[in-house]
Amino acid sequence: MPEPLHIIILAAGAGTRMKSRLPKVLQTVGGRPMIKHVLDTAMVLQPAGVHVVFNPGAPEVRDACREYSIEWAEQAEQLGTGHAVQQAMPAIPARAAVLVLYADTPLLEPQVLQQLIDAPCDGLKVLTLKLDDPTGYGRIVRDAEGQVTGIVEQRDANPEQQRINEVNSGIIMADASALRSCLQDLASDNAQNEYYLTDVFSIARSKGIATAAVVAPEPEDLAGANDRIQLAALERRLRMKNSAQLMKNGVQLADPERVDVRGQVHAGSDVFIDINVIFEGNNQLGDGVQIGPGCILKNCQLAAGTRVHAYSVLENMRSTGACDIGPFARIRPGTVMASGSKVGNFVEIKNTHLGEDSKASHLSYLGDSMIGDRVNIGAGTITCNYDGVNKHQTVIEDDVFIGSDTQLIAPVTIGAGAVIGAGSTVNRNAPAGELTLSRAKQVTVPGWKRPESDKH
Ligand code: UD1
Ligand code: CA
Repeated sequence: MPEPLHIIILAAGAGTRMKSRLPKVLQTVGGRPMIKHVLDTAMVLQPAGVHVVFNPGAPEVRDACREYSIEWAEQAEQLGTGHAVQQAMPAIPARAAVLVLYADTPLLEPQVLQQLIDAPCDGLKVLTLKLDDPTGYGRIVRDAEGQVTGIVEQRDANPEQQRINEVNSGIIMADASALRSCLQDLASDNAQNEYYLTDVFSIARSKGIATAAVVAPEPEDLAGANDRIQLAALERRLRMKNSAQLMKNGVQLADPERVDVRGQVHAGSDVFIDINVIFEGNNQLGDGVQIGPGCILKNCQLAAGTRVHAYSVLENMRSTGACDIGPFARIRPGTVMASGSKVGNFVEIKNTHLGEDSKASHLSYLGDSMIGDRVNIGAGTITCNYDGVNKHQTVIEDDVFIGSDTQLIAPVTIGAGAVIGAGSTVNRNAPAGELTLSRAKQVTVPGWKRPESDKH
């Protein structure tokens, strides 16, 4: 079509069936509001304009979409999908191709929209689905020649029409002037007293405007979510799509139904991901990375060969070589782990550089630290990085051995090769190559007796 493409996204519905305080189109699938999935897909088509119909009583929708370049159209009263489209039409130029999308249909793919755009018909086109269970959807009514004569909503359909299993996806494509003229004739004499967008098809027929239907190849991608059950079905569908993509790229998944990608995962070859792993944001996994069960990774870059053991939580961190994390480790933002390093169980580490072959194997807190190579951090070591007002740095140079249960009161530097005796509180710099300890001397009280009970 030579005309500029304008996309209208309907997002003003109340979504009462969700039983939520959140507007329906902000309910999330894969950790992202449904409307953003639809906007992302719309943007791929490089439209001349994107027009979102919103309810001024739910300004959150507008606030949530600030990063997109959108023309907003207000629909103060929710009088139906046809009425919603009418609100956007004044901003659409006289000569334009109009694509209407519903913001509660988040899994649609740009390729299927392109099929609808490319289908030959200069009037009105609709994308349809064939479903085993068409309940709730508008039914596509065709004449003897197979031409679309109308769309009948569930609540207005007679028993015979209810048996039709070809349904309206909600996605339509139209010549702007044909759509304008059909919208003018909409009426609300139906079961819901609403102005249905779907009625433009029967109106087009009566006006001699051409209509066509394109059957979508993957009906599950065009399912909408009106309630929590449908939302969960979309979540499951998205999970399987993401898992399939990972496996196609060479990732081994212990169970494709138990990995959640709420964002992106770019993985090398022979990566293994165990069950119940969640990815958020943007994650990069090098060749041979292994992720144990129950882990959560957000914005992580793991170098080839890195192993993340069970139940570890990692955020905004990276490894620069093969290293070991967990089980039960918490890696917080700003952490960099070098090759051969290890963060073991019940260790929390934040904004810290852990050098090559350096290890914190058990029960420690390391924050705002520069840790050199081949350092051993004993169990129970804590960097006291916060004085109640400011954060301070701890520097631990190469080949240092920190004895167990040590507190390092920052700012403090432990010189290369130093040993800190177990149980020390270190608040001054420790010289390189020496043993430093602040432990009280051990005493024994000869002949001391345990107290005895008063009851005789
Ligand atoms: C709609 C279609 C139905 C189709 C189904 C596909 C109509 C009349 N029915 O039914 O044929 O099979 O989608 O999922 O179009 N909205 C507004 N303003 C309104 C009403 C709705 O912006 O006044 C928005 C909603 O936010 C939603 C979309 O339009 O994003 C669809 O509305 P919804 O109420 O979910 O329609 P369905 O009953 O699902
Ligand atoms: Ca819907």
